[in-house]
Amino acid sequence: MDRIRIEGGRRLVGEVSVSGSKNAALPQMVVGLLANGVSTLRNVPDLRDVQTMAGVLESLGASVAMQDGRVTVDARNFSNTEAPYDMVRKMRASVYVLGPMLARLKRAKVSLPGGCAIGPRPIDLHLRGFEALGATISIDGGYVIADGANMKGGEMTLEGPQGSSVGATINVLMAASLTPGRTIIRGAAKEPEVSEVVRMINLMGGRVNGSDSTTLEIEGVETLKPIVYSTIPDRIEAGTFLLAAAITGGDVMVRGARADHMNALLDKMIQAGCEIEVLPDGVRARRAGKVLPTSIRTLPYPGFPTDMQAQFMALLCLADGESIVTEGVYSERFIHVAELMRMGANIEMGRGEARVRGVPRLTGAPVMASDLRASAALVIAGLAAEGATEILRVYHIDRGYERIDEKLAGIGAVIARERALPGQTG
Ligand code: EPU
Repeated sequence: MDRIRIEGGRRLVGEVSVSGSKNAALPQMVVGLLANGVSTLRNVPDLRDVQTMAGVLESLGASVAMQDGRVTVDARNFSNTEAPYDMVRKMRASVYVLGPMLARLKRAKVSLPGGCAIGPRPIDLHLRGFEALGATISIDGGYVIADGANMKGGEMTLEGPQGSSVGATINVLMAASLTPGRTIIRGAAKEPEVSEVVRMINLMGGRVNGSDSTTLEIEGVETLKPIVYSTIPDRIEAGTFLLAAAITGGDVMVRGARADHMNALLDKMIQAGCEIEVLPDGVRARRAGKVLPTSIRTLPYPGFPTDMQAQFMALLCLADGESIVTEGVYSERFIHVAELMRMGANIEMGRGEARVRGVPRLTGAPVMASDLRASAALVIAGLAAEGATEILRVYHIDRGYERIDEKLAGIGAVIARERALPGQTG
């Protein structure tokens, strides 16, 4: 497996471009299944998860072609009603296929995704939503078996103990857009990725009202037309680069970043002592003074994103005082803490929160990537640490960051990917 080696302590300066959003592109590829034709997505990042999704769609009979950020999904032969474990286990977002399968094929057998490094991730809200549309659902042998023959519009609340669910909102929205009658989803997620799916479906001829609000009203239509659509910039990748600038006391403009999708992060970066400049074509972050202690609590959008928690914690490790980091979305998403401590951070774990006492410096160490955003946090910490940091199991980073090593090298990081030799592990 590849490794990334970073010589820390270099100020990052310059400009870096943001890629298309992973968490928008993945469901948008699946939206392609809703139209009986060929849809094209532009600005899709070249990521392992995107390739995995292409494989999932192909296993259902669709044809997918990817080139230079363009992905075409030809759903004319979408006919297979089973998504096997081998496909779904690679990536949780595979469960998005349930919605289009129910809407267009009226039947679905989809493997239940397992847990992952960030904790248990049930899909009960997705299933509750389909049941509210009249689908009958059973679980057998690790599979969800769903029958959508009698589906019609319905009303539901898709909020769980941690608030709204991005995945459930998008999945049920896709099904409802082709289900006769009126559906009302209360407690809908408002993440920009959800709003983008709403916009895309509406441009395909769908009738969805309430984008950006917690109530979505959907009038089912008989068919949706194929479409050409561009994916929004990745707010989490952009935020990761801004934090990389901040932790190194650097000055970086992230071209293409959309500040309107990043308000919670930008506010907290300012509190932490960063200067933020919103430009017409991007966002710039710099830091000259101390990192100030800043507490954060992750919440559904527009709250502070859980997908930025680990990277922000890396910055707080060097703050001049104590910060509390509270997880409101995934209470177990703290796997990066132990690795940051191996780099010299002082962090005390409580239930669902971490007390981060700033230290004057981090030191390079061999560390293990465990999930996507935790790995990004280790990269950020490594950029500021004294000496060399070697990050193992880099495939986690490659799931969600396009050429992160090359992009960081372009703004002054001393970073190299060491390709694994055949047979080498770790
Ligand atoms: N939840 C339930 N039941 C459900 C669905 C969710 O209890 O049926 C809970 C989850 O366990 C969690 C909370 O609700 O505590 C929110 O989960 P959500 O459904 O919103 O998450 P998701 O759709 O599975 C997406 C992103 C995640 C991101 C979360 C939260 C994609 C492909 N994934 O996951 O991204 O953390 O929303 O914003 O869009 C990442 O990119 O690194 C990543 C993990």
